[in-house]
Amino acid sequence: MMKFPQFSMLPFLMVVVMLSLSGTTLSHPHWDFLHCLSLRLANYSTISKVIYVQNNPSYSSVLNASIHNTRFSTPASPKPFAIITPLKTSHVRSTLYCSKKHGFQLRIRSGGHDVEGLSYVSEVPFVILDLLNFRAIKVDTKNEVAWVQSGATLGELYYAIAAKTNTLAFPAGMCHTVGAGGHFSGGGYGTLFRKYGLAADNIIDARMIDVNGRILDRKSMGEDVFWAIRGGGGNTFGIVLAWKIKLVPVPAVVTVFTVNKNLEQNATKIFHRWQYIAHKLPDDLFMNIWITKVNSSQVGMKTVQATFRGMLLGGVDELITLIQDKFPELGLAEENCNEMSWIESVLYFGGLPLQSVDILLDKNALPTLSLKAKSDYVKEPIPESGIEGLMSMFLEEEADNAIAMIPAFGGKMDEIPENELPYPHRAGNLFEATYLVQWTKEENAESEKYISWSRRLYSYMTPYVSKSPREAYVNYRDLDLGINNINDYTSDEQASIWGFKYFKNNFKRLVQVKTKVDPMNFFRNEQSIPPLLSPWKKKGN
Ligand code: FDA
Repeated sequence: MMKFPQFSMLPFLMVVVMLSLSGTTLSHPHWDFLHCLSLRLANYSTISKVIYVQNNPSYSSVLNASIHNTRFSTPASPKPFAIITPLKTSHVRSTLYCSKKHGFQLRIRSGGHDVEGLSYVSEVPFVILDLLNFRAIKVDTKNEVAWVQSGATLGELYYAIAAKTNTLAFPAGMCHTVGAGGHFSGGGYGTLFRKYGLAADNIIDARMIDVNGRILDRKSMGEDVFWAIRGGGGNTFGIVLAWKIKLVPVPAVVTVFTVNKNLEQNATKIFHRWQYIAHKLPDDLFMNIWITKVNSSQVGMKTVQATFRGMLLGGVDELITLIQDKFPELGLAEENCNEMSWIESVLYFGGLPLQSVDILLDKNALPTLSLKAKSDYVKEPIPESGIEGLMSMFLEEEADNAIAMIPAFGGKMDEIPENELPYPHRAGNLFEATYLVQWTKEENAESEKYISWSRRLYSYMTPYVSKSPREAYVNYRDLDLGINNINDYTSDEQASIWGFKYFKNNFKRLVQVKTKVDPMNFFRNEQSIPPLLSPWKKKGN
């Protein structure tokens, strides 16, 4: 029987009571971890709000609340020993301290959108640090800045800005349930990126806890670490609690538009032409193509549709004049356009009803599916025959719920040097292409069929996309590109296989920063940046 000093027994005993009531059996590391944490959290009411162990009646609902890929919520998916939902910074530090001390891997979760589920799945014993209570947002319109905690969603951030002003915004992603924590850690882009760059380009300070439990801001972490956390990938350099962001001006009225063209309506030719034009258009214009399978006008038949969707930071007349001049092939007409506020455009691009902006606060507004994503960057126009082949793959059975999302680059992205931040995909890209294949949770037994389709599509695209390295976007994480050794040291050479794809030459600087800030590689996942040979390894372990 283990002995603990009398004064420290009470909170721990309460946890034990909670666990025994819930039927959990504890092995030693679990026991030790909980003992460690309960001592540090100190009172029962905090413990019951912060620690969720398996069999706790709320464990599954807390775990599933931020799973945005049901591919990883099957009975066979590895589960965390505990989910910790800190209420304050000291709880985060305690979780870090106890996980380190008792050998649990820590998976930090903000919005839970990691495409490969890395914020809530691990093959080794792990706990989730879920920042769902770290969602405060403070908008300062006078100085055009805001502080946003990592657990806040983009929807909550946009809502908080729009509650104060309709002429400021923030250039981040289009899906309102994505979390600030993971999104900013990998770059982050949406409808304002041709004008203002990535979310990460507009971060001016941060509050982070390093592996030693120190609370750092930009000044105390230093410019190298501040550089690395703005795009070098999450769960790698520390736990980012909050970000200070620079807001950007937008007009009170913007114009959104959608034009659908299917195969019978020259979609292939218009897409082909678009490649020569879109990246050179003024940076006030965002334009995206979505490729999907749709019903054909012939009954019972399917076709493939290219949806040209975009937004101008300006009025409808200006938009129509611009497109008729530069891209008449699109046939943009007034009925395709809608003037609205920037915050309404967030609903439009997020696939939400254009009714109340309150829906931006609803994390369950859209259904959650199972998915697999892969990404590419394109630097030379794809020949028409190449686009034809891409489109025809969307007629295949597995592509019923597949999308290729293709935003035009150029504008501000061309002006920012490749090494300004870890995200290197800047000048010279015509567009990025994300291939997203989706299926329902009920079809999870057939996951392999859908994943194989995405691999075939990726293979088909090889001649048309960037080479040496074949670049990829870390926020659309793809474990097919390679993974760290789960239980052993991973060399920077091994990690460079996917590291160069995500970060190009910035990978080397990321390895140096990692070596300095977390040499024992505590913060890690399947694709985190490894440190150079750690002291741990040198000792011959
Ligand atoms: P999650 O919580 O899963 O975190 C992602 C990674 O960051 C994990 O490794 C996690 O451990 C780590 N992490 C999280 N919080 C951290 C913290 N506080 N400190 C340190 N590490 C932390 N991208 C884009 O650029 N534009 C877009 O429009 C979209 N849209 C989109 C839609 C959908 C449906 C999906 C599934 C994904 C996107 N994305 C996107 C990609 C998205 O930006 C990417 O998946 C982000 O990493 C998600 O961040 P979350 O916080 O939601 O995820």
